[in-house]
Amino acid sequence: MIIAVDGPTASGKGTIARALAEHFGLPHLDTGLLYRAVGRQVQKSGGNPDDLGDALAATAFPESVLDDPELRSEDVGGYASRVSVHPAVRQMLYERQRQFAMQPDGAVLDGRDIGSVIAPEAEVKLFVTASVEARAARRFAEMQARGQPHTLEDITEHLRRRDERDSARAEAPLRAAPDAVVLDTSTLTAQEAIARAIALVKERTASSAN
Ligand code: C5P
Repeated sequence: MIIAVDGPTASGKGTIARALAEHFGLPHLDTGLLYRAVGRQVQKSGGNPDDLGDALAATAFPESVLDDPELRSEDVGGYASRVSVHPAVRQMLYERQRQFAMQPDGAVLDGRDIGSVIAPEAEVKLFVTASVEARAARRFAEMQARGQPHTLEDITEHLRRRDERDSARAEAPLRAAPDAVVLDTSTLTAQEAIARAIALVKERTASSAN
């Protein structure tokens, strides 16, 4: 079974995808980390993420970049969002994601375009979303816990910019696939969102078995 979990930054999709993978005993890939690795590589080499040549060269990042503690920072998120606009960069990362999705027992992948581009045949597609305010508050708490000081205003502004860029790009824009189930987590705790997601997967797989 392939489960596609798409949605904007800090919507809870990562937490939900990890929990689904554990519950259904499937491997999980956070595809944002691949784009973050490309962004981080551009940043480290002093390149320009908007420049196709620089971004494309960075797709040959060493595997060690995936363990870089900086990978989950807001700055690297911004770089990731900028490199991900280039169709050639998306193409370079396609095969790795596709192969992960095609494992014999299936997989859970989370990102922006899993249900639409990477695994359009996924049995279950969730589009996890939440209001900008709810997402900013979560990201703020996360950053504080990690000792990365940012104001709530800064984070809200960052999220808005990233949403805009991710939604407006020509290639694989952030959008719910027509057959995706939308899960709004604005007023849910993580545990409630996970329980809802597990129930949705069970519902979808039960109805497709009939
Ligand atoms: O999910 P995360 O915030 O880690 O993703 C970082 C950036 O990578 C996103 O803002 C988006 O621009 C890009 N991305 C993408 N397609 C994916 C996953 C992430 O374009 N499947």
